[in-house]
Order: sequence, then C-alpha cells, then structure tokens
Amino acid sequence: METVSQLLESISDVGRDTVRGGYSRPVYSTAELDLRGWFVEQAGRRGLEVETDRNGIIWAWWGAPEKGALVTGSHLDSVPGGGAFDGPLGVASALAAVDVLRQRGVQPNRSLAITVFPEEEGSRFGVACLGSRLLTGAIDPDKARNLRDADGNTFADVSRGNALDPEHFGRDEEALARIGDFVELHVEQGRGLGEEGPAIAVGSSILGHGRWKLTVSGQGNHAGTTLMQDRADPMVAAAQIILAVQKTAAAQPDARATVGRLEPIPGGTNVIASRVQLWLDVRHPEDAVTAALVEAIHGKAQKIAAFEGCSVTLTEESYSGTVHFDAALQRQLENALPGAPVLATGAGHDAGVLAGYVPSGMIFVRNPTGISHSPEEHVEDDDADAGAGALADVLEGLL
Ligand code: GLV
Ligand code: MN
Ligand code: MN
Ligand code: MN
Repeated sequence: METVSQLLESISDVGRDTVRGGYSRPVYSTAELDLRGWFVEQAGRRGLEVETDRNGIIWAWWGAPEKGALVTGSHLDSVPGGGAFDGPLGVASALAAVDVLRQRGVQPNRSLAITVFPEEEGSRFGVACLGSRLLTGAIDPDKARNLRDADGNTFADVSRGNALDPEHFGRDEEALARIGDFVELHVEQGRGLGEEGPAIAVGSSILGHGRWKLTVSGQGNHAGTTLMQDRADPMVAAAQIILAVQKTAAAQPDARATVGRLEPIPGGTNVIASRVQLWLDVRHPEDAVTAALVEAIHGKAQKIAAFEGCSVTLTEESYSGTVHFDAALQRQLENALPGAPVLATGAGHDAGVLAGYVPSGMIFVRNPTGISHSPEEHVEDDDADAGAGALADVLEGLL
C-alpha cells in the first residue's frame, strides 16, 4: 500500500517547468495526459472500473456505477509554474483512502467513485472548473467549445484530439445523478492552519470570484521614431490600470483583485504595442460588491485609457458567486473529524461548482508555507498521510 507522498513522488517528474519553476500541467498537455494515464493505471491496480464521461471527467468506481454514489476527487491540471499539491493531493489522497478503507475491511453500502476533473484551473482555456461546469450545465457548451488556448486551438478541437466528442458536451443528468455526495480534499492555500494546531480542516465556503478580460487598444508604432507626446501607448495605460485595480480592491474590506496575466500585442522591445490584454481576477464574499468593484475598475480604466489616447473594453469570462457548502454534509465532516477547524477559502474548486447541484464538502490539509499557485506550496508527508486518513474517516462514515 503506497502512502500519499509515495503516490505523489511517482509523478514528481511529470510536467516540471524548468523555466518558471514548479509544475506546468495545462489540461490535455502531454504532462496532464501523463497524469491522467497514471491515475487510470493506479485505479486499475486497485481493481476500480474506469470510465471517461462525455465532458472528459474520469470516474474510477469501487462498486458498480450507480445513482447516489459517494464521490471524491480533484484535478491534475495546474496553473503555470504551480505547486505539486494543488489538485494531485486530492486525487492521490482518494486513492490512498480507498486502500485504507479496504485495509479496515469496510463493506460499503453504496458505490464510491474517484473523479478527476479537466481544466480546474482554467489555465489553458480561461474558464476554471470547466469539467464540472459542463457536467452541471453551469456553462453553455457552445461557449466551452469555442474557448481558445494561447495558440488559438479551440477547446472543441483539443478535446476531439483526446477522443471526446465536443458535440456531446454539456449537462449530463445521468452522471450528475450518480453523485449522492461529493467530498474534495485539497491543500489549504493560505495561512488557515498554523504549525502548532491540527493539520486538517473542514471547508465551510468559497469566496465569490470571477474573471474579466480588459483589452486596451492604442496605436502600434516605432519605438525610435515616435515622439513621447505623439504616442497612444496601451502599455502605459495598462500600467496605470493595474495600479487602479490594486487601489480599488485595497479600499474594500475582504476584496481581492489581481492582474496576473498581461499580453502586449505584438510584443516587441522596439515596438509600441497596438493592443494590450489584461486578465482580471476579482473576489469578494458579496456578489453585489464584486460587481461594483468591477464596474469601478472599468470606469477608471476608461478614464485612464482616454487620457492616454487609447480605448478599453471589458468582457466577463466567468463568474461564480459565493458558495456555502451543504450544511448537513459539513456537519458530518465535522463529526468525523473532531477538533478540525472549519475554514472558508478564497480559492475556487470543482466542489464549489458541484455545490450548486449536489451536496458537496471539502477537507483542507495544512500548507506550512501558506503559499499556493507557486512552487513554494508545500505539504509535509505526515500531514498528507493524516489527510488521507481523515478522508478515509469521512468516507467511511458516509458509505
Ligand atoms: C483556482 O484555484 C482558483 O481559485 O482560481
Ligand atoms: Mn488552483
Ligand atoms: Mn485546486
Ligand atoms: Mn482551484
């Protein structure tokens, strides 16, 4: 029987990013496909029956696929230059938890499935939790099909290349009905669990969050021949817009706003850009406040752009309101894990999307660095094992 750390060690070479550090495992890249293959092999070794549904979600069944099953799982894709745990910890812990349950001789009263969701991070096609959004119908399949990666490939084409039929994307009543309860184990992504206290927490809620794209348009021109006063430089506007994002969010308690991705077009050292794209991530517990923040940022961006002789447009790419996990399921998790603190999180998860449709809950495992979406994300081996044990305790009580 392998421990969680041994399972993670066996994939520690997959998708290493030698440029950014950490891991880059975008959905349906060679790295993510290798990890999906690793998962299928691990599931096979445990005698779990594996299927991939029409939205690209992998299901590994202990017991026959059935309505109302207990489902646990997470994702294997990563952000660019991400850590080793965001996603894979939940998948490896689910495999280890099945081993623990079998060792305990647990005889399940219902089937258990482990799921792997595609494009949880939205790092390739822009919309996070794409697999769970398709499964539940939270995204229009047409919108999903037409999402493009940085190379211009559509999600439909890339999915087709991976033996999926994008015409069959969308709400899957049968698959959804199979989820009686969903529990996702995840690395904690902030400083919610201190070094002294318990290593495991129960999730209570997910902060509302969304993504917007700002496109600043100016006049592309020559860096040497264009006098400073003659420029309409969208990079200069973008720099001020980023400051406005920071100031707007800093003035609003509990708000977080980030520009983590910026693309000048065409992107040459001796070229004044003609266009700049900024991707904006805004999060706040109240939907109305998030909407007001985005509106305020848009207004400031328009003023800044006009001052620089540029224009700006803002489009929403995705939005998920604040989610409170199922109260009854949360209580069951708390009862199974006495002493575990209850934590809210600012990070999005497939469990958050699923929570709008089926009872869902989360377990968090201590991250001593308090850093995530970065190579410094960390989980100690003992805490990872404690996490798998905690997941086993929770699943045993629910099976
Ligand atoms: C994903 O991890 C997110 O919270 O953006
Ligand atoms: Mn993440
Ligand atoms: Mn994650
Ligand atoms: Mn996430």
